[in-house]
Amino acid sequence: MSNLVRNAWYVAGWRDDFGREPQQRMLLGMPIVLYRKQDGSVVALEDRCVHRMAPLSMGSLEGDAIRCLYHGFKFSADGQCVEIPGQDEIPKRACVKSYPVIENGSWVWVWMGDPQRADPSVVAQSKALDDPEWVLKTGQIDYEANYELINDNLLDLTHLAYVHAASFGADEAWSRSRPHVETLPNGVRSSRWIADTPPVPPLGKAAELDRVDIWTSYDFIIPGTFLLYTALCPTGTAQRLGGRAPTDDDDILFDNFTSQAVVPTGEKTSRYYFSWGPGARFGGEDIAQIMIDVAKGAFLEDKVMIEAQQRIIDCQPDRPPMPASADKGITIFQRMMKSLDRA
Ligand code: FES
Ligand SMILES: [Fe+2]
Repeated sequence: MSNLVRNAWYVAGWRDDFGREPQQRMLLGMPIVLYRKQDGSVVALEDRCVHRMAPLSMGSLEGDAIRCLYHGFKFSADGQCVEIPGQDEIPKRACVKSYPVIENGSWVWVWMGDPQRADPSVVAQSKALDDPEWVLKTGQIDYEANYELINDNLLDLTHLAYVHAASFGADEAWSRSRPHVETLPNGVRSSRWIADTPPVPPLGKAAELDRVDIWTSYDFIIPGTFLLYTALCPTGTAQRLGGRAPTDDDDILFDNFTSQAVVPTGEKTSRYYFSWGPGARFGGEDIAQIMIDVAKGAFLEDKVMIEAQQRIIDCQPDRPPMPASADKGITIFQRMMKSLDRA
C-alpha cells in the first residue's frame, strides 16, 4: 500500500466490539483476528493459519488459545502453535504474528509496525464514551476509497460550505476564512473563528440561537485521528477575543466534541469511526441523538464525494492535484506522513 506509516496505532474497533468471540478486522490490507483473553485483555494475531491459510477468526477459543476450525491447529495467545492434532513434533516456525494492542478512548488500537517500538504514549487522545464531560453517540462508515482522501477531507473544512450546506447548514464563511495551522509533534492543529454565521441546525435549536460566532479547533494526529472541539458563542466574541480560543464559561453558549478515526483497511478501502455529542452541561441524550443523526447524514455526503473522487483519480493515478491556500494542513500532514513512511 502507498504512503503507509506502519509504526503507528490503528483503530481496530470499539472496545465493546471485542469479547470471547474471535473477530476479523482488516488493517493495512492484512487480516487480523482479535479476541479477549480470560483476564479481559485483548489479543491481536495475524488471521492466517500457518497450516493452509484458513482464517483463525473462524475458529474457537479454548481458554486464552485459539483453535483453527479447518484442521485443528491450536495457537496460544502469543501466536505460537501449541498443538497439531495427531502430530507430536511442532515446528518452531509454526507461529502467527502477534500485534501489540492497547485500549484508549473507547477504541482498541493495534500497532502495525515493529513491536519493539510500540509506544502507548503516542496514541491519539480521543474522548472515551463514558467521559463525564461529554454525552457521546457513535457511528462508523465503510469507504471504497483510499484512506488518505478521507484524511484530506478532514484536514480541509472549506468543503463544509459545499458538501454540507444542507446537513450542517454551513455557509460560505467556512470556505472564505482560513484557519491558523500549527505543526504538532505528531500531527497538525487547525483553529479558527467563523464569525456571525448560522449554527449547525441541531446545535442552534439546542441553544436557541440564530446566529453565532463559532470557535472550531482540531488536532489531526498521525496516522488518521481527528479530534475536534467546537464552541458556539454570542456574535462579537470572535472580534473581542481577537483570534484566541474562548476560555471563559460566560462566552460559551454551547459546545461539543467529536473524535474520529480513519483506518486504511486496504489499498482502496477504509473504515471511518466517529463519536460526537454535546458538552454534558449543555445537552443530554436527546441532543446527542439528534447530533449524531445529522452527522451520519453529513458523513454520507462526504462518502459520495470521496468515492466519486477516487474513481476520477483511478483514471489517471499519476496526475497530481493542484494545491490551494486552504490545503496548508493537508500539505504539512502529508509531508509528515511521507517522511515517516520512508523511515
Ligand atoms: S488451515 Fe488451520 S489447521 Fe489447517
Ligand atoms: Fe465532511
